[in-house]
Parts: sequence; C-alpha cells; structure tokens
Amino acid sequence: MAHIIAVANQKGGVGKTTTAINLAASLAATRRRVLLVDLDAQGNATMGVGVDKYALARTTRDVLLEQAPAAEVIQFLPQLGFSIMPANADMTEAEIKLRDVAAGDFALKTALEQVAANYDYILLDCPPALSKLTVNAFVAADGVLIPMQCEYYALEGLTALVDTIEKIRRVINPRLEIEGLLRTMFDPRNNLSNDVSAQLLQHFPDKVYRTIVPRNVRLAEAPSHGLPVLGYDAASSGARAYLALAGEVLRRHDGGQMALG
Ligand SMILES: Nc1ncnc2c1ncn2[C@@H]1O[C@H](COP(=O)(O)OP(=O)(O)O)[C@@H](O)[C@H]1O
Ligand SMILES: [Mg+2]
Repeated sequence: MAHIIAVANQKGGVGKTTTAINLAASLAATRRRVLLVDLDAQGNATMGVGVDKYALARTTRDVLLEQAPAAEVIQFLPQLGFSIMPANADMTEAEIKLRDVAAGDFALKTALEQVAANYDYILLDCPPALSKLTVNAFVAADGVLIPMQCEYYALEGLTALVDTIEKIRRVINPRLEIEGLLRTMFDPRNNLSNDVSAQLLQHFPDKVYRTIVPRNVRLAEAPSHGLPVLGYDAASSGARAYLALAGEVLRRHDGGQMALG
C-alpha cells in the first residue's frame, strides 16, 4: 500500500511544487512506483513534468467531483518513470463545490484508495492555502512534508499549519503525522537563515530533515523544460539534495536501499 505524503505550506513560493516534483523523480530513480497528484489550480506540478495544463481532457478536479475514476485521469510519464494526476484552473471549481458536499473532506482519500495499491509513494502537491483542497490532502495522507524558507516570518506561519495538522489528526485522520520539515532555497551566507534554521531544530528536534536544499538556479530552470532537475542537470547541487531527501524518506519508510537505476 502506498505511503501518502502531502507537501504543504500555506505560504506560496516556499518550494512545495519543486519538492513534490523532485522528490517524486528521486524516489522513481530508486525504482519506487510513484504518483504525483497536482492539487493546485496553478497547475505548476503538471507543467513542471512536461504536461500541457491547457490541453487536458480530465484533471484532478474530475476525480474529486466523482466525474472520472482516478485511473482514467492519471498519466504515466515514461521518460520520467513516474505518474501524474494533472490539474489546472478547473481546480477552483472543485474547491467551491466540495464545500457543499457532505463528505467533501474525503473526496481525495476515497479516490486514491482505488489506486493506492499500484504505488509505493503518492505525493500530494498542495495549494498555498489551508483550504478545502489542503484539508482533503491531510485527510488522505499519512504524513505532511513541510518545505520552509528560512526567513523571518517562516515560523509564524508554521504554528497555524501545525495546529491544522493536529486538529485533523484529532478529528478525522489519526494516522496523520508531520513527516518532516525541509529547509529550502537555503543560503548559508545569510545570518537570518542560519538563525531560523537553529530555531527550527530547537522546536522540532526530531522533525527537521538533515538534507538542506540550497538555492540552486538549476532547480528554477528545470520546470521550463518540463523536467525534474534529475533529468535536466543530474550533477547540480539541487539534484543531489533531492536524492539525499529521497534517501531520508526511504530510510524512514522502507528501510530503503538507494538502488539507483
Ligand atoms: N532550491 C531552490 N533554488 C532556487 N530556486 C528555487 C528553489 N526551490 C524553488 N525555487 C523556485 O522558487 C519558486 C517557487 O517555488 P515553488 O516550488 O513553485 O513554490 P510553491 O509550490 O511553494 O509555491 C519557483 O520559481 C521555483 O523554481
Ligand atoms: Mg506550488
């Protein structure tokens, strides 16, 4: 059965999509069967794996509104070695309609149950809000991976996020835990980044990944080629960081050997 990880932070631009795409690619490179689910109306994860969000017959929206089975919407990406459930601006409609459905928080969980046996890892790329879609992700997930930019306001938003995770664990999904906090776009020459990083380690000593994702232009360039960084510049510091992150995830969840191939 798949281990389901929501990549979430209500702040925009902290590296959620970059992390979801590149962790998916790195896990796939170790021969894990991976599904990436795009839950954001911006469709950045979709475009970032080379799928045209403007030319989609079926999207995550249709799955959430029970208008298409997950298996019909998921596309396998042969050149990348993993699958995507794509999304585009239609997600906004799903978000609104799910508010009026009694079981609206369970739509994603119910849909993924039908395909979970086909994957080792399912990564959920969440929108930048604690919205109905993010709640759907937290109800469906086993863990939440929180990308963080180590800047002044980072910790402030983290409290609200952790509160939401704890509330959903209490009320709906007792399995849900914080998978880990990931420091992204890190610049070691910046004193503030180092201060915030130290505070994170102090408040969440067991939850901060050892891997730090550096600021790396290759990570920012890769999506415009429709590629994970591993397919764009495998020797870059960004590619190495996301392989190391995959190693941490695998060690935690399947005692994982990093058999690259
Ligand atoms: N480690 C990094 N180094 C350089 N640029 C990055 C890095 N991580 C993300 N970016 C860039 O920062 C922007 C925001 O990242 P993104 O993953 O889209 O954030 P989010 O999904 O949280 O909104 C994007 O343009 C992305 O390419
Ligand atoms: Mg994003």
